[in-house]
Amino acid sequence: MVNVKQQIQEASLFIENKIGFCPEVGLILGSGLGILADLVENAIEIPYHKIPNFPVSTVEGHAGKLVAGQVKGKNVIMMKGRFHLYEGYDAQVTTFPVRVMKALGVEKLVVTNAAGGVNVDFDPGELMLIVDHINNLGTNPLIGPNDSELGERFPDMSEPYSKRLMKLAYKVAEKEGFNLREGVYMASLGPTYETPAEVRLARTLGADAVGMSTVPEVIVARHAGIEVLGISCITNKAAGILDQPLSHDEVVEVAERVKPTFLNLVLGMIEKM
Ligand code: HPA
Repeated sequence: MVNVKQQIQEASLFIENKIGFCPEVGLILGSGLGILADLVENAIEIPYHKIPNFPVSTVEGHAGKLVAGQVKGKNVIMMKGRFHLYEGYDAQVTTFPVRVMKALGVEKLVVTNAAGGVNVDFDPGELMLIVDHINNLGTNPLIGPNDSELGERFPDMSEPYSKRLMKLAYKVAEKEGFNLREGVYMASLGPTYETPAEVRLARTLGADAVGMSTVPEVIVARHAGIEVLGISCITNKAAGILDQPLSHDEVVEVAERVKPTFLNLVLGMIEKM
């Protein structure tokens, strides 16, 4: 049987030897936010394929590397490019990097993504703090034997996203002069975008936004006792709200447009958290 703890240790030792410090804040950069990696001081880049036991990203536009260094005087480590279930990995594999971050010392995690707005009031280009999520993936990264050294068998999920960090995010937004939405993020498997009926279902279930990532990473982070801030960039109105098809190009375009604000929010958070 594969010994996950040993795999985590091999990966984290490898990274530790390369970076030589203990990162405090971890970041998982979704579509469009990869540019944050360019702002890291004393940046050390480690392509995923060089790290023992790391999965390798397959999606176009998701360059796969870890970038570690300092941002706003804090030791950070970020994933430029993440792993999605729709790529064919199972949930344990997509979340392996979060385990490794924890082993490196990460206590706080910022997770970002692009999402479709299910809430009809949300417009493309708005940022949404994720206050809660709905796991509609049909799987869970904690399925299988539980190693109690990594976390509890039945982890509490009553505050998946830190209220403390959300308060700080509002302070940053106020200071920088932009609006923040807040809402519930529902993760679907993808890679198809939702049908209009699925979007109505999501709305009925209480979702404000839909996407294809984040939930597995957050589950593992909470299992590991990491404090989480989640931010969605609403890149489009979800399917069926407007009488027009969805396109990946639109998602990329809007994520690109929102980048400066998104960046300000995340930089401000790193400073405060
Ligand atoms: N649905 C799912 N994932 C997404 C969407 C969407 O509408 N937009 C960006 N990522």
